[in-house]
Amino acid sequence: MEFSTKCITPGLSKTGCTIVGIFESRKLSAPAAVLDRAAKGYLSNIVKSGDMNGRSGTILMLHHVPGTACERVLLVGLGPEKSFDEKAFRNALGSAFRAVNATGATDADLHLTALAAGTSDIDWRIAQSAALAIESVYSFEQMKSKREASPKALKRLLLAYGRTGERKGAERGLEQGLALGHGVSLAKDLGNLPGNVCTPAYLARQARELAKRYRMRVKVLERADMEKLGMGSLLSVARGSAEPPKLIVLEYRGGPKNQKPVVLVGKGVTFDTGGTSLKPAAEMDEMKFDMSGAGSVLGTLKALGEMRLPINVVGIIPATENMPGSRATKPGDIVTSMSGQTVEILNTDAEGRLILCDALTYAERYEPSAVIDIATLTGACVIALGHVVSGLFANDDALAKEVLAAGESVHDRAWHLPLHDEYQEQLKSNFADFANIGGRPAGAVTAACYLSRFTKKFKWVHLDVAGTAWKSGKEKGSTGRPVPLLTQFLIARSSKK
Ligand code: BES
Ligand code: MN
Ligand code: ZN
Repeated sequence: MEFSTKCITPGLSKTGCTIVGIFESRKLSAPAAVLDRAAKGYLSNIVKSGDMNGRSGTILMLHHVPGTACERVLLVGLGPEKSFDEKAFRNALGSAFRAVNATGATDADLHLTALAAGTSDIDWRIAQSAALAIESVYSFEQMKSKREASPKALKRLLLAYGRTGERKGAERGLEQGLALGHGVSLAKDLGNLPGNVCTPAYLARQARELAKRYRMRVKVLERADMEKLGMGSLLSVARGSAEPPKLIVLEYRGGPKNQKPVVLVGKGVTFDTGGTSLKPAAEMDEMKFDMSGAGSVLGTLKALGEMRLPINVVGIIPATENMPGSRATKPGDIVTSMSGQTVEILNTDAEGRLILCDALTYAERYEPSAVIDIATLTGACVIALGHVVSGLFANDDALAKEVLAAGESVHDRAWHLPLHDEYQEQLKSNFADFANIGGRPAGAVTAACYLSRFTKKFKWVHLDVAGTAWKSGKEKGSTGRPVPLLTQFLIARSSKK
């Protein structure tokens, strides 16, 4: 898809579709009013007739509006003008792209971006529009022998701004939106690929490609390297599988040499059968998404590389399958983690924390300014928060706030959950330093408690994305979350200093 941004008058260009907004109670937005004048009141008559009332979620597609050079004009309901904020803006974009993609139009001029929405600036509106446009045409076809005959979708989109002084912001926004859209698409592709294709080795290849394309440093540690480092916890998960595990390290150096990096650690379980503690068969296919944390790290690094953000970031991905092979870890087995702490594995299905803990210890060598781990860690988090927000845990309140704010601003939200010491007691083991499970109560919290024992040396946030990284049911597929949150966090960090 091709994008451009320009300060233009609506209706004069020969585009497939000009998109303008109508506020509730039938008020034309400024670009719609300009178009209406050119069309000698054509739009205001339609609005008066009651065919478009401006309510949020409504659209009306018009063809060959007099006085315009475009094939179509799409009217999009914006809701009440007073409450036209960032959320209403995003909703309007959603309706607009859905409507345009359902027609034969392959190019469009979007004028919603010229409207003041809440406290947003032009950068944000253009970035959101580009990213959402890319999402609106995303489909995963690579495993089908014949591409589905899909309706024509947008190929070119012009994002309009209203004042010439906004050019710089619009261009910056476009660059960020494209990068974000491409990062999200990569995360979705990786998530949607089946476990027999997207293996630990496949993730390593993807990392190598990113490194080559965006000039990053890449390192892939093999089983023997991990043995040398004493990563007994990570390796205990890989024991039951014929696929060799990989520890993937990607270093992006866009900032000053002496700037301490942000480290992103992504859970890369390319398929989670549960291991010896085998999962039930129903919906087990969805455990191909158990590498979504890893996918979000690669997606975010792609976005970073495209934006050439001036910041240092390291991505660390422990990647393995969790299988019940004959050499697989058994409940009650005790392993020694890289940190030296011993773990009694009471349930082999609590494998995410077992691979993350060694990756977190490995992160210490970067003396990070902050560490964020991203993991589809617990079913309990899905029960607690559903599919709306990701669970957030932190050992530093300021960092937690920073991450929460980033998520808010791009509508990829998280919710701060507790990490009080009292919960740690649930991890007591009679035989090792602690166990890898803490029983049914507060399952998402005790998983985070487990990780907190490996994050004492840095500021840390843990994102449990079990409920947000993919959708089940008819629309089954990866969402690409939390790439928007992570990318926005890094954008905000890099412009601060
Ligand atoms: N990958 C799963 C978490 C998961 C489950 C994500 C369902 C999305 C939907 C994780 O490895 C897991 O199996 N966790 C266990 C932990 C339990 C054994 C303490 C769980 O949540 O059941
Ligand atoms: Mn599991
Ligand atoms: Zn898992």
